[in-house]
Amino acid sequence: MNKKKSSFSGQLGFVLAAAGSAVGVGNLWRFPYLAAKDGGGLFLVIYLALVLTFGFTLLASDIAIGRRTKESAIGAYTQMSPKWKFLGVLTFLVPVLIMTYYAVIGGWVTKYAVVYLTGQTAAAAQDNYFTSFITSPVSPVLFALLFMGVTAFIVYNGVEGGIERVSRCMMPILLVLVVVIAGYSLTLHHVDESGQMRTGMDGLLYYITPHFEELTFSRFLQILLDAMSQLFFSLSVSMGIMITYGSYVKPEVNLNKAVNQIEIFDTGVALLAGAMIIPAVFVFSGTDGMSAGPSLMFISLPKVFAAMGKAGTLVGLLFFVTTIFATLTSCISVLESITANCMEIFHTGRKKTVLVLTVIYLAASAVIALGYSIFYIEVKLPNGSVGQLLDIMDYISNSVMMPFIALLSSILIGWIVKPSWIAAEMELNGETFRRKKLYNVMIRYIMPVIMFILFLQSSGLLNKIAG
Ligand code: PHE
Repeated sequence: MNKKKSSFSGQLGFVLAAAGSAVGVGNLWRFPYLAAKDGGGLFLVIYLALVLTFGFTLLASDIAIGRRTKESAIGAYTQMSPKWKFLGVLTFLVPVLIMTYYAVIGGWVTKYAVVYLTGQTAAAAQDNYFTSFITSPVSPVLFALLFMGVTAFIVYNGVEGGIERVSRCMMPILLVLVVVIAGYSLTLHHVDESGQMRTGMDGLLYYITPHFEELTFSRFLQILLDAMSQLFFSLSVSMGIMITYGSYVKPEVNLNKAVNQIEIFDTGVALLAGAMIIPAVFVFSGTDGMSAGPSLMFISLPKVFAAMGKAGTLVGLLFFVTTIFATLTSCISVLESITANCMEIFHTGRKKTVLVLTVIYLAASAVIALGYSIFYIEVKLPNGSVGQLLDIMDYISNSVMMPFIALLSSILIGWIVKPSWIAAEMELNGETFRRKKLYNVMIRYIMPVIMFILFLQSSGLLNKIAG
């Protein structure tokens, strides 16, 4: 067997690298949107409860599997049970798909950092600025290739010398920037045409107050499912990434502490992102300004930055630098996971593997980046939305495959290799696995049921069944 030689230097290096993977656009553009849409404080409470139960179970499982088997998804699942190799292959395919489009998003973010660096704040606030950028056949491709190249360069430099080093530098800066921007956001105020004044503090209140108005059972269920799928995406679990990172953790590291710290980092940044984005949008556009995904980041926020006056250019620049850090450290983890699996399958060295993958993904990123121009298509997805190439890749990997993988892994761990297999790794150096009982119940009973429902819902099957 091909034993890993690379490893993180210790607990801190690992936690920052794993947090680097976890903190990404999901924290910055999806969490605040969901919190604003799903009842503010109500969503926050539900999300926190899920982090401590589901998040903990999923994260501890992936990391323990990685460290115990010392291999990436395919090898790890094969070691757990040779019959379940297919699950390893399925898990490996998630980053393979995500990698085709993540550098494209990274390219968009980089483009916007350049926009603010060169002071084009007013231009970026124009209605069709973003659309005309992504539909151009040249610029988005160049930015995607640049982002892919930088990611590849870091992964090429190895686990400690590349990934850990970059995460150690970027993650603390990211945290400081998010705090600073959130602090600034709270000091904002603006009087609209009707003479009504809105302040950042009003926006914060709107964000953290639980809204129970019109709360029906089906709406509650919707909030629950939104929070659950957000949690998945946010922690980078059930896609083999945390298995790969876990395989680089030294035996003396206390996994219990590491898991907690990663969860706190990821959730902390999500909460701060809400405090940074919701008050700013609220002050200048009221509650209607909150949109989802790319349109929040590339259409709504540029309008907010332009409305801030002179400070807007600097705040915009800081915001997009923060986003570059978040996106880059996530993109690295996706490429690393693919690289590690390929090194194990083909018994090749890191450098050669990364070079071959780079060629493949430079081409793939270019194709996806052209999905809004030359390769434009419209496909109706089973969940009702209409998507282009990027959305299709995202839909298959995140909405269909991830819940399905989590469902099968919980059956494998809960009923075949048994939870004690994970517990042994969590207690390796005589450490206490404090939430062991909770873990057992979650992995055997609760996860399979909830993941099945989540799979039905996010794949659109639930709507079909319900008619
Ligand atoms: N966890 C990242 C986020 O919250 C997303 C991500 C997905 C990262 C897939 C790596 C791989 O944005």
